[in-house]
Amino acid sequence: MLLATTQVSLGTPPSASQNSDVYMGVIASAPAKVILLGEHFVVYGEPAIVLAIDKRAYAKAELRQDKRLYLRSANLNFSGYFENGIFEIEKGDIKEAKLKFAPLKLVVEKVLEIYGDNVGLDVEVNSTVPVAAGLGSSAAVAAAVAASVGTLLNVKLPKETIFHISYEAEKIVHGTPSGVDPAISTFGGTLLFQMDTGFKPLDVKTDVPLVIGYTGVRRSTRVQIAKVQKVKNKYPRVVEPMMKTAREIVLMAIDALKEGDLEKLGDLMNINHALLCGLGVSDESLESLINAARKASALGAKLTGAGGGGCMIALVQNERIEQVQEAIQRSGGTPFMAKKTNEGVKIEES
Ligand code: PMV
Repeated sequence: MLLATTQVSLGTPPSASQNSDVYMGVIASAPAKVILLGEHFVVYGEPAIVLAIDKRAYAKAELRQDKRLYLRSANLNFSGYFENGIFEIEKGDIKEAKLKFAPLKLVVEKVLEIYGDNVGLDVEVNSTVPVAAGLGSSAAVAAAVAASVGTLLNVKLPKETIFHISYEAEKIVHGTPSGVDPAISTFGGTLLFQMDTGFKPLDVKTDVPLVIGYTGVRRSTRVQIAKVQKVKNKYPRVVEPMMKTAREIVLMAIDALKEGDLEKLGDLMNINHALLCGLGVSDESLESLINAARKASALGAKLTGAGGGGCMIALVQNERIEQVQEAIQRSGGTPFMAKKTNEGVKIEES
């Protein structure tokens, strides 16, 4: 089954004919992302390139008559509500649901702080993005929730504010994230990110056709970051030049993207993957999909995100897309197409 066929169902959206004095539901969405180049090295101050992709998370917010914050996740099959700080479960495991809902609760609380009052809300989230796969699902959900609740309450939320709120939520999920996921989910487009200089939008005119292969292996970003730290501490003189190489790769890729030189970009992705492999963050599931994509004539293929499972990406000429998708599927992965999108967080229906 291709993940791209996953549908979002968010119940009945409010129709335009409804009385505009009555608050109805607001649906917002935000994009997932792929790190094209530079993951892990970015944690040590090197640059990374990240693209927003046309897979989105959706959130629908509606007012309630009571003061409860009712949360429902269609993907995770959890639902429950917070009332006076106490969480009551409706569907799913209470411990797990409370943990998964904690960042969303924080997002809603931050928006209510700006609104200046406490109101009851129903918030439903749904996503076409696989969870814990390195595609930034949690940040996309957080940005969509902030925008839907803000619009429902008529709170003016500039994108900067949505980014800051989603970043706070990400810290609950990942500990010390670089901030790349909430930035791309909020602003969309193609960003060059570096810890000390922040985000710089890259003006990329060329199409960057990517096939994503999901290994089906869930992994923890924290664990993979710790793995790299260990290798770096043990072999500093080996890892240091790898960092420099990773920087050069990203700098060359900026030019390749500007020039629309996909062949060069593919080569750089392959070299970047070799570095990540050397750091120990690839695994059998990723290697199998990456090799399959390369054999099927991908211009380049690498893991994306933290590694240890999750997803790989392959840069593919349009006429080879089907071939590469089939090769990934035959190797046990779930392939789907991703196109870069300039659309960040947005209101779908209000
Ligand atoms: O797999 P993800 O989407 O959590 O990406 C992690 C990227 C890292 O560079 C490994 C960590 C970071 O915070 O940048």
